[in-house]
Amino acid sequence: MSAGFGFTSAAAPVDWDALTRYATEVMGRAYAPYSSYRVGAAGLVEDGRVVLGCNVENAAYGVALCAECGMISALHSTGGGRLRAVVCVDGQGQPIMPCGRCRQLIWEHGGAECQVLTPRGPVAMSEVLPDAFDETDLQQ
Ligand code: THU
Repeated sequence: MSAGFGFTSAAAPVDWDALTRYATEVMGRAYAPYSSYRVGAAGLVEDGRVVLGCNVENAAYGVALCAECGMISALHSTGGGRLRAVVCVDGQGQPIMPCGRCRQLIWEHGGAECQVLTPRGPVAMSEVLPDAFDETDLQQ
């Protein structure tokens, strides 16, 4: 499995089960020896690509990379584009909410319309990160 993984039709409805399977598979590659909390993230790009990331910790705890950081890096290293949908899972493959910093990352690359699979189902980023700061604020 590479950083840029499968493809689906860009117009098709989001296949949440498939995206969750991708996130769960990449979660298995997490490097989390300090917290033992493994995370996998899978993002569906508007062109149908699936981009993946897992958390990568460090002996200097504060510099740990969240799974979403890897996913966003994969987004750009495989061609860029906008995220349509994101799934983050824990070590059991269950959906988790992205941390605050990673909500900001997802907003930057998916915006208000991007859907995130939460424990209560798919939710738009406009609800996951209300009143977000973004590039429009820089233009004021
Ligand atoms: N973590 C993520 O990868 N993404 C999140 O959204 C929440 C937290 C990771 C960071 C750290 O390696 C571990 O989970 C425990 O916080």
